[in-house]
Amino acid sequence: MTEAVSAPVASEPATTRVGHERVLVLDFGGQYSQLIARRVRECGVYAELLPHDVAIERIEQAGPQALILSGGPASVYQPGAPKLRPELLRLGIPVLGICYGMQAMMLSVGGRVDRADGGEYGRTTLTLSGDGGRLMGGLPREQSCWMSHGDAVFAVPDGFTALASSPGSPVAAFENDRRRLYGIQFHPEVVHTPHGQAILDRFLRESAGLREHWSAASVIDEQIAKIRAQVGDGEVICGLSGGVDSATAAALVHRAIGDQLTCVLVDHGLLRKDEAEQVVATFRDGFGIKLIHVDAEARFLQRLAGQDDPETKRKIIGSEFIRVFEEEAAKLADARFLVQGTLYSDVIESGGGTGAATIKSHHNVGGLPDDLRFELVEPLRMLFKDEVRQVAGELGLSERMVWRQPFPGPGLAIRIVGGEVNRERLEILRGADAILQEEVRAAGLYRELWQSFCVLPVVRSVGVQGDGRTYAYPIVIRAVTSDDAMTADWARLPYDLLERASNRIINEIAGVNRVALDISSKPPATIEWE
Ligand code: XMP
Repeated sequence: MTEAVSAPVASEPATTRVGHERVLVLDFGGQYSQLIARRVRECGVYAELLPHDVAIERIEQAGPQALILSGGPASVYQPGAPKLRPELLRLGIPVLGICYGMQAMMLSVGGRVDRADGGEYGRTTLTLSGDGGRLMGGLPREQSCWMSHGDAVFAVPDGFTALASSPGSPVAAFENDRRRLYGIQFHPEVVHTPHGQAILDRFLRESAGLREHWSAASVIDEQIAKIRAQVGDGEVICGLSGGVDSATAAALVHRAIGDQLTCVLVDHGLLRKDEAEQVVATFRDGFGIKLIHVDAEARFLQRLAGQDDPETKRKIIGSEFIRVFEEEAAKLADARFLVQGTLYSDVIESGGGTGAATIKSHHNVGGLPDDLRFELVEPLRMLFKDEVRQVAGELGLSERMVWRQPFPGPGLAIRIVGGEVNRERLEILRGADAILQEEVRAAGLYRELWQSFCVLPVVRSVGVQGDGRTYAYPIVIRAVTSDDAMTADWARLPYDLLERASNRIINEIAGVNRVALDISSKPPATIEWE
């Protein structure tokens, strides 16, 4: 969760679409399991991710047209390694096993899986053995693919055909087209397998007979109907943070029910430059949405005065945020529903062994407690972040809003480190941050970075400006690339961009005499400084 109004943990199962075509991806704990579901959706087919040991009845209830078994970290022979339940191959629908999923399938139908000499990791050349079969027919005889496995399939049982091999995998792909069972040792979902998407597409269209039905436009139509059915003529309230999730949820709900929606922007004074104004301009002036803009800066700063402990700062902001939101909500006495920008990645159940996904507690700061008197409306609950952006674009949100980098709920407060958060420091940080954003955008790098921002450590050092010595703050530039914020690498920003940003920050922002660059990756550092 990276937005001010974040979600309580899932209250209903992720499987909410009934009566539609869908693929279920069963997660054996692989690092790319979510990516498989995303790639299937990119083929225009709805996909959901469920743990590999989900009850068979739940699968039957969901009524999928195909199953995909993901990769996983275990060796099929390891004690306690997850097994493929044979019933899953008797559902009468096509099944595609990927990596571990392929090996688990092979074991359950009587093939031979063994330790491979040294395993295969990374880019590998794949060679088709015959015509490539249904799954790979017509693709180049030799192609590159991405491997990550220690065991390999050495022989297939009767009825199965080996389709391809690689140096470390005697059987790198197989199929039994009559039973509609398919397996690939490599990862079709990662970009390093150039024909991976074509193989998934073959499986979905030719084996499972699935049509394209999933798109941003179809999500909008479907959700509009669902929102109308849920809220009827009830009043609905939505907290806006300026982030893409709450913005998209609000725009979608507004399209469904118009003036029954009231949005609340709790402006804690810790937002970036012009951010609150942009939200007001977009929602009140642009979309004509009823919007209450609560200027609560003074309240927040008063409570933050004298506090320098990071955890205390977060707690103060979190509790004050809830108080302000509740006060505003109380004025809308008829509102019974609350919109939340919960995403699929927040509710997904993982096959990695931990059960339902939990949100790190510190990321819930700025969120709302789940004992509010509201029934939740969560129109983005089925969507991955990139799909939310597509929906946002389709709904007419500006490019700037659609592609906004994540921003923490407690805002700039967690970027003033080692001292009190006060107006003077916020002004400095906000100004420096705005310059960095401008320069990053001008260099065309904004979208490529997961986040780029400034940090203000509360220490002062000596500098020289004009004829005099200065004693002022440093600004630290933090820019990272990442896929999901779990790990991140420091971005190699061009020197000329760094030079421009540094010069401008020191010259234009009074109170700063030094600019430093954070070159730590996560782990061991984190993205934010606290
Ligand atoms: P870290 O610093 O743990 O951050 O590497 C991972 C991601 O989470 C964001 N973040 C927060 N988001 N409330 C939020 O809504 C918070 O308190 C919070 N703290 C960190 C951070 O910006 C990064 O994207």
